[in-house]
Parts: sequence; structure tokens; C-alpha cells
Amino acid sequence: MSAFVALEGVDHAYGTSDTLAVEGLSVAVEQGEFAAVVGPSGCGKSTLMKLATGLQFPRAGKVMVAGAQVNAPVKIAGMAFQAPTLLPWRSTVDNLLLPLEIVPPYRGEMRRRKAEFRERAEKLLASVGLSGQGNKFPWELSGGMQQRTSLCRALIHEPQLLMLDEPFGALDAFTREELWCVIRDLHATRKITVILVTHDLREAVFLADRVFVMSSRPGRILVERKIDIPRPRDLEVTFTPQFTDIVHELRSHIVKARQ
Ligand SMILES: Nc1ncnc2c1ncn2[C@@H]1O[C@H](COP(=O)(O)OP(=O)(O)O)[C@@H](O)[C@H]1O
Ligand SMILES: [Mg+2]
Repeated sequence: MSAFVALEGVDHAYGTSDTLAVEGLSVAVEQGEFAAVVGPSGCGKSTLMKLATGLQFPRAGKVMVAGAQVNAPVKIAGMAFQAPTLLPWRSTVDNLLLPLEIVPPYRGEMRRRKAEFRERAEKLLASVGLSGQGNKFPWELSGGMQQRTSLCRALIHEPQLLMLDEPFGALDAFTREELWCVIRDLHATRKITVILVTHDLREAVFLADRVFVMSSRPGRILVERKIDIPRPRDLEVTFTPQFTDIVHELRSHIVKARQ
């Protein structure tokens, strides 16, 4: 079976620049898999995410998602970034509905199916611990609640692929760990494919089936580490020797990559 997301020998540079952001980048992620990507700052992690979702196109090599070559923004993907970027003049529910107002086929169905979509949004909010918060405005929510909302917005069109680019970077440690569990449960119940970029190695090891370590710029994959910690995993696992050994091992790869 071919991979659900595959980059094969990809080179990419921005604009007309000769300096490559990634070079010879190959990654394959299976359907339903949870992959994490770690690496030094500026190594091309976000570039990988943009290539895999059709926001950038490679200079060389091939990008395939769900069996098709990527030549336009990938509609089966949902994305969330470090900053939640919610629109302050829209309620939480209306922020969630935004992608449905833009992405076909939902766009044309918005008026007819509005009640159904609102219900879907409320259910999604409840699934991340925000039931009854739909009428609040973003500025009435804490940072963690905003990031949960942003996650829901990435999921509202029921994507098969969830792309998370350092989504918890701006949060305190406790909130971050709470959200790890939210993501873990979303992945388990929806069986979606997830690609998570993070600089937090504990986050990568806790959540992922496989962790990819990138080299410094121009980025390519240096190491691929399978995380064989059984699921379901709870936060207690982060204190076990098995867990901390893997974190240490990954850390030494990153240290080498930065040299
Ligand atoms: N829009 C852009 N235009 C020009 N250069 C960019 C752009 N985005 C990223 N780069 C460059 O490409 C390299 C990889 O960037 P990025 O993928 O954002 O790294 P990371 O997410 O790993 O920190 C960096 O050197 C960065 O400066
Ligand atoms: Mg980045």
C-alpha cells in the first residue's frame, strides 16, 4: 500500500531564491498514523507542512496525498498553527463555521444546512471540553480555550488529514499537556492521519507513532524513530524510563543536527 502523505526527493526554495529550504526531503506517513516532525529552528518544518498541503509546490521531487499528486491546496486537510488566529468580531461558533463558508461543497450548502453545521460545531466544542462556550467571543476565552477553538476549526470540515504546526508553543505547560490529551483522543476516535510539527520532544514522543528528525537547513530527514509505547497512553507514561530514554535519544539527534 502506498503512503497517505508522501514527499519524495523534494527540493524547495522560496520565490526566486537559490538557497534551498529543504533538499532531498522524503517522508512517508501512513493513513491513520500520527507522525511528529522535530528539528532545529529554520530547518524547513513549516515548509514541509506547506508542501504537503499544497500551499507551496516543490522545485524538484514529488508530493502525493491520498494517492494524488498535490497541485492545489489540499481540501482533505485541516490545519492549526501556533497562533490561533480567530476573528475577534465573530463568536466561537461563527469562527468554527468559517471554513465551511469558504470550502466547497459546504460553501453552497451553508444557508440550507446552517442549523446542522451549528450543531456540528457545538458537538466539536464539547469534544474538546468547551461545551456551552459557542456564543463567547475569542477575547473572552483563555489562550488554551482559543487554541482548542482553533483545533475545532481545523476539524469542522471533517478532514482526513490534520496538520498541526507548533500548535501549543504559546501555552503554559499544564494547558499544553491537557491539549496533548485532547489531540490524542481526537486521533483515537476519528482515526485521522495527523502530522505534528513541534520543538517539544516530550510532546512528540507522547503523541506520535513515529518521530522524524530533520537536519538543519536545507532540511531533510536524518532519523526516523518508531515510538513503540503502547496506546492508550496517559500522562503518567511521560515519567517512565522508556519514555525519557526515547526523549534523550531524540535530543542527541537534534544536538547533532544543529552542529
Ligand atoms: N515565505 C518565505 N520566504 C522566504 N524564505 C522563507 C519563507 N518561509 C520560510 N523561509 C525560509 O525557509 C527556511 C525554512 O523555513 P521554515 O520551513 O519556516 O522552518 P521551520 O518551520 O523549521 O522553523 C528558513 O531559512 C526560512 O527563513
Ligand atoms: Mg515553523
